[in-house]
Order: sequence, then structure tokens, then C-alpha cells
Amino acid sequence: MRERVAALLARSRDRSTTLTDLDDAELSTQHSPLMSPLVWDLAHIGSQEELWLVRDVGGREPLRPEIDGLYDAFQHSRSSRVGLPLLGPAEARQYVGEVREKALDALHRSPLRGRPLEHEGFAFGMIVQHEQQHDETMLATHQLRSGGPVLDAPAPGRPAAPVDPAAQVLVPAGPFEVGTSAEPWALDNERPAHTVDLPAFRIDAYPVTNGRYREFVEAGGYDDPRFWTEAGWAHRVAEGLTAPRFWSRDAGGAWWRRRFGVLERVPMDEPVVHVSFHEARAFATWAGRRLPTEAEWEKAARFDPATGRSRRFPWGDDEPTAAHANLGQRHLQPAPVGAYPAGASVLGVHQLLGDVWEWCDSGWHPYPGFRMFPYPEYSEVFFGGDYTVLRGGSFGTDPAAIRATFRNWDHPVRRQIFAGFRLAADAHPGHDH
Ligand SMILES: [Fe+2]
Repeated sequence: MRERVAALLARSRDRSTTLTDLDDAELSTQHSPLMSPLVWDLAHIGSQEELWLVRDVGGREPLRPEIDGLYDAFQHSRSSRVGLPLLGPAEARQYVGEVREKALDALHRSPLRGRPLEHEGFAFGMIVQHEQQHDETMLATHQLRSGGPVLDAPAPGRPAAPVDPAAQVLVPAGPFEVGTSAEPWALDNERPAHTVDLPAFRIDAYPVTNGRYREFVEAGGYDDPRFWTEAGWAHRVAEGLTAPRFWSRDAGGAWWRRRFGVLERVPMDEPVVHVSFHEARAFATWAGRRLPTEAEWEKAARFDPATGRSRRFPWGDDEPTAAHANLGQRHLQPAPVGAYPAGASVLGVHQLLGDVWEWCDSGWHPYPGFRMFPYPEYSEVFFGGDYTVLRGGSFGTDPAAIRATFRNWDHPVRRQIFAGFRLAADAHPGHDH
């Protein structure tokens, strides 16, 4: 386990290094009021690692106690961080390097069992996931920055044969297990495992594509309040929304998008991304459908009708590989629908993990029997707030930071995250052909 943890720590650091391989001005500037300067994320990654792995697990003295407050996400809003006396890029790099050395020493000495924080390396898994989550946030900052491209990656693969992007799958009625009590690095909000009984429903086999979404845009979906909730319409009007973020239309009516500094035609067979929950919900109403609840999403992803079991991943219990899902920033965009047949769930639902986070029609609440661990600011303080659940991870989510039980949440107006959605519908008995 020590080797595996060390490899995961190294992988996350490689990614953080790539994402902060910019000149000092680019690292220290605020690319959007929605985001921190990249240099804040970098030192914050080190600060959390110091707190949990060096001080707590390692039992060592603080390296830089005077900077704790600067990198406490709860003391300073993202938009105010640029005004703080932050470590400069060179200092931040040196700091995270020193922390890492001491964290590896702690890894060498921890029994990796015993008290809950160290059992099966939980604290190390938590810090790996934390760094990867900030890497995805930094990737979103890259998408928001103006100027030419600085990141590069090959395009994802294409499906062997065209698929019907509107295909649906029937999920049978009955109980299944939601969440986990067994996954060693699952976070507190994924616990405990519990049974949920759902009526039968239908769910799209693929996330909604740009092509399907364009029909909604061109049919005047953004101009008709009937498709929107009251809060959604207020958001649409206040922000002047007319299409997904980063889309534009030329004089000839063709759709273009800006993606990590490159202007390109919108690929119609890719899942739509950079839409808010409100836009997703309006699309669903226009299409005569609805968004899945969080429990429905998880059943579509995990339930195996042959055994009655819930799997770790849609394809089974094995860790994700490049054949299963578009994860880990291997590509800088979602893959066309149908590109990952090996990653489909038993029920035949594709691309649940990777590509785009999927908005669910569920607020952010604890599971029955929830126990906060190891600190309330991980998830507990957000329960019941103005948040909507997202599932499945995106092309920018590392495999170490995603599972079919993993739960994410954000404000329903957010569009800079790599979020899309898929549709669901009630299954009416007698119409199930
Ligand atoms: Fe954080």
C-alpha cells in the first residue's frame, strides 16, 4: 500500500506542476472572480497536506504556522484571495516540496492501520483526492483564462459505430444499496451504505450531446420562461444566458466554442458541458423529461440485476483504466458519446464516469446514519445549503478521486465547472416496450 500511495501522491504532484507551469504574473493574477489565483491553490494544496500528513499523522512541528490562515478556504472567499499576502510562486513551490518530503516520511512511518485517520491509509487517500480536486479546479481556471493555449493533450477516441444519442435504458423497480461502508478511501458523505427502494424509471444511455442541446437553443428554449423554474429564469435573465458558457455563433449561424485558448467548431456528438443546473433542468422540461435524482443516477451506475449487488464502478469492481472512462486530464475535452463501451454499466448506461459531471435533481443532504469524519468543513457544513448534487466526474477528474458512490455538490448557477447532464423519465407500466 505504501508504494501505491507514494505513486498516487507523485501523480497528483505531476499534475499540479503541469497546471502551474506558467509565468509568475499568470500564476498570481486572478483569471476570474469565481476562482483563486493559481498560486493560492498550489500553496493551499501544501497547507492541507501539512495539516493532515505532516502535523497530524507525522506528529511533526508546523513548517509555516504563520501562513495557515491565508490558505484556510473558510477564512477568505475565492474573489478576495488575490489581495492576501500570499507566498509568491517560487516560495509556494519550495513550500509544497518541503511538505511533500515530510509527508513521505510520515508515509514511511505510519502503520497504515489502527486509528481511523490512518486505517488503510485514509489520511493519505484524502490528501491525494484533495490535491486532485484542486487540480480540477485549476483546470477550470485555465479554461477561464484569456490568451493562447498553454495545455496540450490528444483528442479522445471516437466510437466504433455511430450511436443513438437519445437512446434510453429501463431501470427496474426495487431496492438497491446506495453509498458504501467498505470503500477505504470513501469520504464521510458517501457513508454509510443503506438501502433505497425506487420505482422503475428510464434514463438516457448517454449524456445529452451538444447536438441535442443546440436544438433547445435554436428552438428558443432560452426565451421561454415556461421551461424554467422561477429561480432558473431569474438566473437566465440576470446573467443574460443564451447558450452554454464559452459558445458563440457566427454570422452564418455556425456554433463555435473556446476551449483552453482554442476557438473551434462545437462538436455535436460530444456531451454538452459548461451548463448550470438551471439550464439542464430547462432543457429537460423542454424535452418532456426530467433530470435523474442522485439515487437514480447511482442505481443506473451500480445496480447489477443478476446478483442484486451494487458495484464499485459501472463496469465492475476493477479500478478505472483508459478503456473504461475519459478521466484524469488525458484529454482536454469530453469524448463523443459511445466512445467507452467497456465502461458501460450492466444495464447499458454509458459514460457515467468521466467526460462531464452530471447535474442531478437532488439537493445536498447527508445519508441516514451520516457521521462527520474527519472534519466538518469537508462536507457537513454544506448540507442543506443552496447546493445541487453532481455525479460521475469529468475528463478533468483523476481516477483516484472518483467512484460510483462519489458525491459532489455546487451552486445550481455554476457554469465554469465541467458539468453536463443526462435525462430521466418515470417508467409508466404498460408503456414499457
Ligand atoms: Fe481545499
